Amino acid sequence: MKEIEVFDYSNDIMKELQKGILITTKKDGKVNSMTVSWGHLGIEWGKPIFVCYIRTGRYTHQMLDSGEFTVNIPLDRDKNGKLINYCGSHSGRDVDKVKKLGLHLIPGIEVSAPAIQELPLTLECKIIYRQMQESSKLPLEMQEHFYPSDKDSSFGINRDQHEMFFGEIIKAYIAD
Ligand SMILES: Cc1cc2nc3c(=O)[nH]c(=O)nc-3n(C[C@H](O)[C@H](O)[C@H](O)COP(=O)(O)O)c2cc1C
Repeated sequence: MKEIEVFDYSNDIMKELQKGILITTKKDGKVNSMTVSWGHLGIEWGKPIFVCYIRTGRYTHQMLDSGEFTVNIPLDRDKNGKLINYCGSHSGRDVDKVKKLGLHLIPGIEVSAPAIQELPLTLECKIIYRQMQESSKLPLEMQEHFYPSDKDSSFGINRDQHEMFFGEIIKAYIAD
């Protein structure tokens, strides 16, 4: 494990985020990973923060009640693109993604959620703030596009609102 200064990797993290990275949670002994491509890296309350945007219907949304998550970023997308797609199209409610994909979990250092060997750039985060987005404050065409009222939780883009989870980055490293 090589500890890193997270902002030395800002560029890499944001470039990978656009294509999809994983948020991993652990609750009641169960581990689940979900793909996200919305988020940001920044500083708030004088702390390094990663914010993710999770629709309320995702299994991950309820897993985040654990108060912690890891962010798992690939260093070799060609090798790991398929698993990122899988985690973005299957729910932990229906399938144990870790088992199905044979992911190699590495116990977290400061949080209960693990790191993932296949996606080694790891941010360990503790949730210090969460807030529901108010889609009614978006331009109408964005409301209609991103929150279509006729699509329930089973659709990728659906009527569920996003909640923002602000994770204080308490450890950043490349796992091995
Ligand atoms: C590339 C990609 C990016 C995604 N980004 C997000 C996101 O930022 N927020 C979100 O709520 N869902 C996002 N999704 C959808 C979830 O990953 C998907 O619904 C997943 O199956 C949820 O898993 P879970 O039910 O185990 O939490 C994305 C999917 C893909 C393929």
